[in-house]
Amino acid sequence: MYKKNVIAICGSTRHNSINHSLINAISHISVQDLNISVYSKIGNLPQFNPDDDDENVAKEVTDFRRQLDQADGILICTPEYAHGVPGSLKNAIDWTVSSSNFTQKPTMLVTASTDGKYGHAALLETLKAIDAKNVDSLQMVIEFAKTKVSLDGRITDDDTLIKISTLLSTFVGSLYVNTETEF
Ligand SMILES: Cc1cc2nc3c(=O)[nH]c(=O)nc-3n(C[C@H](O)[C@H](O)[C@H](O)COP(=O)(O)O)c2cc1C
Repeated sequence: MYKKNVIAICGSTRHNSINHSLINAISHISVQDLNISVYSKIGNLPQFNPDDDDENVAKEVTDFRRQLDQADGILICTPEYAHGVPGSLKNAIDWTVSSSNFTQKPTMLVTASTDGKYGHAALLETLKAIDAKNVDSLQMVIEFAKTKVSLDGRITDDDTLIKISTLLSTFVGSLYVNTETEF
């Protein structure tokens, strides 16, 4: 079985981000099934303006869209800010609405934050609105994430490790099923 290609987007642009460490942990756990490449440039995307979304759209945007298109699936790991989705992550997603890069693409969403439930619910709704595939079955919140994920990229909480591993099995499965299939 060929490995599937996944693009991972970290909702935090912070140095020493727990969400970035979580992506590293997930890459390690899934190494036999997935090639996970991190898209680390959400902070470099221009501020979304529909007027700029034309044939002269910024190169950073076309690069981002191309990397999404080339991936078999998408992984998002993000914190919550002020009970919402981090602005730079929402900005990045807004650039994909007209180009439909999430449409029917299996998408796993993990909110790793202190609490996270508000931002998670809002982002889940956005991802469903842009037709990300199976995201309802591919999502979880990790509360008090800093006590469960280490900066060197390990999930140190047993329960969280089991839940992430189970979710990853479902995610990998969704990358192999017919594109028309919904769980
Ligand atoms: C401006 C700001 C607002 C925050 N608001 C929330 C919040 O509403 N809910 C929450 O769970 N955590 C909140 N946090 C804490 C972050 O979830 C926590 O710092 C998390 O580890 C950030 O993720 P990162 O380590 O990947 O950067 C906030 C942090 C900052 C800096």
